[in-house]
Amino acid sequence: MKIKNQIKLSILTMPENVPLARVTVAAFASQLEFNLDELEDIKVAVSEAVTNCLVHGYSNDRNRTVNIVCSIYDNTLEIIVEDEGVGITDVSKALQPAFSTDPERMGLGFTFMQSFMDNLEVRSEISKGTRVTMTKRPQQDLAAAASEEN
Ligand SMILES: Nc1ncnc2c1ncn2[C@@H]1O[C@H](COP(=O)(O)OP(=O)(O)O)[C@@H](O)[C@H]1O
Ligand SMILES: [Mg+2]
Repeated sequence: MKIKNQIKLSILTMPENVPLARVTVAAFASQLEFNLDELEDIKVAVSEAVTNCLVHGYSNDRNRTVNIVCSIYDNTLEIIVEDEGVGITDVSKALQPAFSTDPERMGLGFTFMQSFMDNLEVRSEISKGTRVTMTKRPQQDLAAAASEEN
């Protein structure tokens, strides 16, 4: 698939950079025909993915890096959020609603990412890091494609 546009964002792991990442990705996403609700969904998904890198991947170390790559392929937005942190022992368990390794947290981050985006893929290796890939296509396009098929 041909890339129509792409940005790469590399942030230090300070919590104050999370809103920046969220807004930057949403501004990039608005090049597609996402409505405001969909842009909000994208913001939540990015926040959850980046926060996971800070909190879980790097145990709140403020001096590490999270890389975010956003691409537009055809009419689809792809967001990759990647850390080089501790990794996830059991990805399928981590994806379950209400599962958290931190008793203070709700364990709903991946559930939000899954429900707000069209697709979520998590690859992780212990001590090497975690890569979350999410895609979403504007609802408007999906509806148009469906009506063309009928
Ligand atoms: N980037 C990451 N690096 C290491 N572990 C992670 C990462 N992202 C998620 N996890 C693991 O997956 C679990 C579930 O994540 P999530 O659904 O966001 O819930 P929560 O953040 O509330 O624990 C986390 O508790 C953590 O153990
Ligand atoms: Mg989380």
